[in-house]
Amino acid sequence: MKDMNVTLNGTQLSGREGMTILELARDNAIDIPTLCYRPELPPIGACRICVVEVEGSRTLVGSCHTPITEGMVIHTHSTKVLETRRVIIELLLSSHCGSCFMCDKANICELRKIAADLEVGLPRFTVRKRYYPIEDVSPYVVRDLSKCILCRRCVRACSEIRKERVFGIAYRGFDSKVIVGLDQPIDTDVCRDCDVCISICPTGALGKRREIREEKKGEPLVIID
Ligand code: SF4
Ligand code: SF4
Ligand code: FES
Repeated sequence: MKDMNVTLNGTQLSGREGMTILELARDNAIDIPTLCYRPELPPIGACRICVVEVEGSRTLVGSCHTPITEGMVIHTHSTKVLETRRVIIELLLSSHCGSCFMCDKANICELRKIAADLEVGLPRFTVRKRYYPIEDVSPYVVRDLSKCILCRRCVRACSEIRKERVFGIAYRGFDSKVIVGLDQPIDTDVCRDCDVCISICPTGALGKRREIREEKKGEPLVIID
């Protein structure tokens, strides 16, 4: 595999052909926030929070799915990049119905952490909130889709890691939603306490039922191999 010479935040580095900007940055201890990306899943470039500036490119590029090229000059934390990431997070929070103080995932919520890292406080935008009633029909999984940021990690993890197709995406635009079957509650037989979707969800949209959590106290939540 060929080596590529790249300038990352002013430092000349070499990376392997085929690696993404995000992989190169992480290999060099540079933190780029991600939401839809997970290393064990193919990148889909849905959330855009990982954008970086590449000299010569008219627009910012998604680092999680853009491969490095010879001579690339990349800025991961320029003013333009940081401002864009802040706006993306603000827009996500503007339509978000959750209250962090009352959220079970608050301590591990990736959305909340990125917002704090970027010093995003109360969103400036007034947009329609995405509201859905909490769905707790399943004996295992509780879904609170008002906190869903449509990163599709659960959809992809279920199909790519568990080889099941419990989740899908339906509707369009603002109404886009992660659905089960024909938009039914999650009570399918295949969905038996595997936890993959819960552990991969970056927000409080998916949780384990409290009684199951009590039963399994002490066991690790993450079951991904
Ligand atoms: S999902 Fe995250 S951002 Fe939303 S209420 Fe819970 S902790 Fe806050
Ligand atoms: S339920 Fe969670 S993992 Fe699935 S799309 Fe929504 S935020 Fe992402
Ligand atoms: S993390 Fe790169 S587009 Fe979502």
